[in-house]
Amino acid sequence: MSAKSNIGLVGLATMGANLARNIANKGFHISVFNRTTEKTEKFIQDFGKESGGKLHGSKTLKEFIASLEAPRKIILLVKAGQPVDDMIAELSPLLDKNDIIIDCGNSHFKDTERRQNALASQGLNFIGCGISGGEEGALHGPSLMPGGSKAAWEKIRPIFEKVAAKDFAGKPCVIHIGDLGSGHFVKMVHNGIEYAIMQILAESYDILKNIGKFTNPELSKIFAGYNKNSNLKSFLIEITTKIFNKKEDGKFIIDYIKDAAGQKGTGKWTTEIAHDLGVYSPTINVAVDARIVSGDTKVREMSQGMLKQNITAKKITISGKKNLIKQVENALELATILCYEQGISLISKTSKEFDWKLNLAEITRIWQGGCIIRSSYLKDLTTALNPANEKAAMSAFQKIMKTLNGDKQKSWRKLMSLAMESGIPTPAFYACLGYFDSYAKARLPQNLIQAQRDFFGAHGYERTDKEGSFHTEW
Ligand code: 6PG
Repeated sequence: MSAKSNIGLVGLATMGANLARNIANKGFHISVFNRTTEKTEKFIQDFGKESGGKLHGSKTLKEFIASLEAPRKIILLVKAGQPVDDMIAELSPLLDKNDIIIDCGNSHFKDTERRQNALASQGLNFIGCGISGGEEGALHGPSLMPGGSKAAWEKIRPIFEKVAAKDFAGKPCVIHIGDLGSGHFVKMVHNGIEYAIMQILAESYDILKNIGKFTNPELSKIFAGYNKNSNLKSFLIEITTKIFNKKEDGKFIIDYIKDAAGQKGTGKWTTEIAHDLGVYSPTINVAVDARIVSGDTKVREMSQGMLKQNITAKKITISGKKNLIKQVENALELATILCYEQGISLISKTSKEFDWKLNLAEITRIWQGGCIIRSSYLKDLTTALNPANEKAAMSAFQKIMKTLNGDKQKSWRKLMSLAMESGIPTPAFYACLGYFDSYAKARLPQNLIQAQRDFFGAHGYERTDKEGSFHTEW
C-alpha cells in the first residue's frame, strides 16, 4: 500500500472486525491490528476482496502506526477494563501530538476521563465512544455516541457520519455527545434502559406463558402483534418474535436456555451513578437485581421446595386469554415509556451536575437507528424533548401523557393484580408503576420516616405549616 490509511482499528473480535468492514465498505482505507497476527491475516483473507482493497492488515504496532495518515485516528475495540489501559500504554509512545485514540468499548465513563487526562498531558486526544447495535449494527450501521474533545471529533466526523445508522429522517445516528466521558456515560444509560426494557419483556413472557399458557409459536405471534403498536415497535420486540420461533434439532431453543442472565457491568454502573446523584430509576435497579437473582440458581432450586406460593391457580378461558394479550400489550406500552423516561431523567440530571450541556433531543434521535433500544416511540420522544419547535414538543408531550393517563393504565393495574395473585414475579413492571404513582403524588408517606428518624436519632424534620427545622421530644 503506498497511500496511507484514513483510520486504524485495533481488536478484531466480532465487533471490531465488523466495524472495520463497515468503514471499508463506506469507502475509507482502514488499517487493522490484532495481537494474534493469524487473526489479522485470516480477516484480510476473508474480507479484503469484499472491501475492494481498503482493508490493510499490520503485523506489528509499529507497522500499523506508520500506515496511518496524520493526525492518526485509532479505534480501540478491545475488552473494557485493563486491556484498554494496556493497549493505550503500548500505543501512546508511538504516537505524535494531536493523534486521536477512540475507545469504542463499553468503558466506564470515569475510566474514560482518567485516560483523557493522562493522554492530554502527552498532547494526545482520547475519545470515549459508545457504540450500540451489536455485531449486525457494527457491520451495517451502529448508533455512535462519541464524547471528548470537540476538535478531535471534527477530525473523525466524516468517517463516523458515514458509518453510523440512519435515524427516521435519514440523518446519521451520531453526534458529538459532549465533553469528557459523556459519550460513554450516555451509552451506559442506553444500556440501563436496555436492561429495563429487556426485563419487562421477560416478565411479559412469564405472564403469557404461565398464566396464558401460550405456546412458543403463539408467543411469537403475540409479540409480532405488539410490534404493530407504534409505541412498541422496536428491535427488542422484533428479535423476541424470532427467538420464540427458533428451533434446533426439532426443539424450541428458548425452552433449553438456562435462565441465569449474564451482565458485563453497564446496568450496574447506571444504578450506581443514579444512586450517587439521587435520581429515581427503580426499573433499572430491579432489572439489575432480577439478573442477580436469576443467577442465584442453586438457592432458587433449594428454596423452591421450602417456599410454597399460597395461591389458587385459576383456569384461563379463551376470552381470558384474549384479554391477557391486550393487558400485557397495554402494560408493556406504558412501562416502556417509563423506562425511557428514567434513563432520560438520569442523563438530564447528570448533564446539569457535570455541566455537560447534553442535548436530550439529539441523544434520543441518534437512538432511532442502529442501537439495541431503537423503537418507533423515539420519534415522539425526540420531538417532545426538542425545545426548538415548542408547538410540536408540546403536542408530542401531550400525546405521551394521554397514553400514560388513559384507560391502558387501568388495564395495567389489573394485570399487576393478576400477576400477584398468580405468583408471577414482575418486579420491573411494579417498579414502573411505582415510578408513575410516586410522581403522581404531591405527598408521599415519608413524613412518617422523618418522624421515626427524629424519634430515634433526633435528626430533625421540616414542617408543612411553618419554615425551619424542628425536633420533637417524642
Ligand atoms: C449494545 C449492547 C452491547 C452489549 C451489552 C450487553 O448496545 O450494542 O448494549 O453493548 O450487548 O454490553 O451487556 P450485558 O452483557 O451487560 O447484558
